[in-house]
Amino acid sequence: MTTLIDSNQRVLSGMRPTGALHLGHYHGVLKNWLQLQQQYQCFFFVADWHALTTHYNETGIIAENLWEMVIDWLAVGIDPSLSILFIQSQVPEHAELHLLLSMITPLSWLERVPSYKDQQEKLKGRDLTTYGFLGYPLLQTADILIYQAGKVPVGEDQVAHIELTREIARRFNYLYARENHKILPEPAALLTPASKMPGIDGQKMSKSYANTIALREHPTSIDKKIRTMPTDPARIRRTDRGDPTKCPVWNFHEIYSNDEIKSWVQQGCRHATIGCIECKKNIIDAVIAETTPFRERATNYQNNLDWVQDLIAEGCATARQIARDTLEEVRSALGLKLK
Ligand code: TRP
Ligand code: SF4
Repeated sequence: MTTLIDSNQRVLSGMRPTGALHLGHYHGVLKNWLQLQQQYQCFFFVADWHALTTHYNETGIIAENLWEMVIDWLAVGIDPSLSILFIQSQVPEHAELHLLLSMITPLSWLERVPSYKDQQEKLKGRDLTTYGFLGYPLLQTADILIYQAGKVPVGEDQVAHIELTREIARRFNYLYARENHKILPEPAALLTPASKMPGIDGQKMSKSYANTIALREHPTSIDKKIRTMPTDPARIRRTDRGDPTKCPVWNFHEIYSNDEIKSWVQQGCRHATIGCIECKKNIIDAVIAETTPFRERATNYQNNLDWVQDLIAEGCATARQIARDTLEEVRSALGLKLK
């Protein structure tokens, strides 16, 4: 069984359903997934248990965002005929593997994962002194190992979790594998470059800065958000010269505009021959053009939610079968099989 799986061809990644996806997710993560699904067998899942580790007292947001997130994935082109899409909590095998791995996980390995203290620091308003939160990187370890995934696309902040996964796999194989037959392959992180997507205030686009443009933002709202963006403070009047490098709108040109428009902005801003509204109009048009197909496809999926739900049920069943196969081997290695 294990020998037939080509782990190097398997990619797995998850996303927490804690809010509407925005252009930062698209440019930072989803565009990468779109490429990966052409090259690998991809497993993409809704990490609803992971959301519970931080949002256990706000469970409503999970139900609210779960289907919307799946629709966002489909709307940008994540293709269920190429990738296996599923929901973590519908594959309870993750939990059994998590439990079994917890037996061999030194507490100190979890305590020293940087995100443990960082997140507690960052999310000060939440009580994260829970067992579940400490164990969350181990749950992630189980998510990965149960599919014997060889490659895991993650951002810089998650690299330590992949390192932990490798250490746990190594320890498991050391303790339980017989005759050099490794049971759990060690995965490699596929580092996703940090998103360059700026928010409408010039900081990184992030829900916590309230500076996002949603994947399915209405055109009227896109227009308003960009039209009211701050610009180079030196350009008070139309006749004042400006400097694009001091303007958050320029960051958008770097992503959306071709060389011709970019030099038009550089010249026009520095010589005060264009106005900021004119300058922003290009971005408004580009963002609306980019997101229009997302809105259209999403509307279609929303109107056919049953179809989407069936599709995910199928993905869960496929994932579950694969997860069961791994778990069989794990149980057997631990002497937990009755026959
Ligand atoms: N921990 C990831 C995050 O917060 C989500 C996640 C859960 C994940 N399990 C995973 C990512 C497994 C990659 C692989 O973003
Ligand atoms: Fe910013 Fe464009 Fe106005 Fe210059 S012209 S300040 S780049 S919005």
